[in-house]
Amino acid sequence: MPFQIAVVQFHPKRGNVQANISQVQSLLNGIQADLVVLPELANSGYLYESTRALLPHAEPQHAPGGFLSALSGLAAEMGSVIVTGYAEKQGERVFNSAAAISADGLLANYRKIHLYADEKALFVPGDQGFTVFEWQGVRIGMMICFDWIFPESARTLALKGAQIIAHPANLVMPYCQDAMLTRAIENRVFTVTANRIGAESLGLKSLTFTGVSQVTSPLGEVLFRGPKNETAVHTLSIDPAEAQDKQISLRNDLFADRRTQFYDI
Ligand code: ACM
Repeated sequence: MPFQIAVVQFHPKRGNVQANISQVQSLLNGIQADLVVLPELANSGYLYESTRALLPHAEPQHAPGGFLSALSGLAAEMGSVIVTGYAEKQGERVFNSAAAISADGLLANYRKIHLYADEKALFVPGDQGFTVFEWQGVRIGMMICFDWIFPESARTLALKGAQIIAHPANLVMPYCQDAMLTRAIENRVFTVTANRIGAESLGLKSLTFTGVSQVTSPLGEVLFRGPKNETAVHTLSIDPAEAQDKQISLRNDLFADRRTQFYDI
C-alpha cells in the first residue's frame, strides 16, 4: 500500500509560537500526506539563556489552544498524522520532545534521550524510552536529532517494530545525513529526517542549522535530499512493507542473527 510522506524544513522563529503555527499552516496548505514530519523544537526555536526563559514558549502535552492543538486541526483537515519536535513543559521542567498528533490529539510522545551540548542546561533528559505508534497500519518510531549518533536509538525503534523512523532535527554537525543511510541499512527501515534551516545567536553563541532534510529507503537509498537553506515541503510515496524484509542473504536475518550474549559491556 503506498504511503505518502511530507518532510518539512523551515526556520522556526525563536520565542514566537504563533508565528510558527502560521508558518506551518501555510506550508501545509494543500499538501496531502499520511505522515508529515516537522523539525525539532518547531514551536519554540532553539537557543535560550535558561529553562526559565524557555518555559513561556513550551507547552504541556494536552494544552488547548497551543502549537499541538493547531497541528491537530491541520491533521484533521489533511487526514494525516503529524510528527513534530516541540518544547514540552511539565511543571517547571522542559523536555525536548516529539509528538505524534492526529485529529484526535496526541497519539504518542517521545522525550529526547540524548541531549546535545548546551541542551543539557535547558532540558531534562528523556525519561520514558523510545516509542513506536501505529498509523493506518504502519508502525512509526520517533527519535530526535542527536539521537542519530547513538546507533542504539534507531536499533531500539527497529526492534520495537518501526517501519519508518520519524526524525525531527535541528542539526548543526555535517555527518547526520550520511550516517542515516547506515541507520537505514543496519535496521532495514525508512528514515525521515526533517531538519530546520536558519541561524540563531544568543550572546556569544551562534548556531547555523544545516537543512538538507532527507528520506532514505530501507536499503540506504536517498529518496529525497532537501536544499541547504531554503524553506521546503517535499512529498513522496513509499511502500512501508519494504521495511518488513530483514533477510540480508539466504542465511542471514538482520534480527535473528544478532548475538546479544556478546554485546553487553
Ligand atoms: C541536536 O541534537 N539538536 C544537534
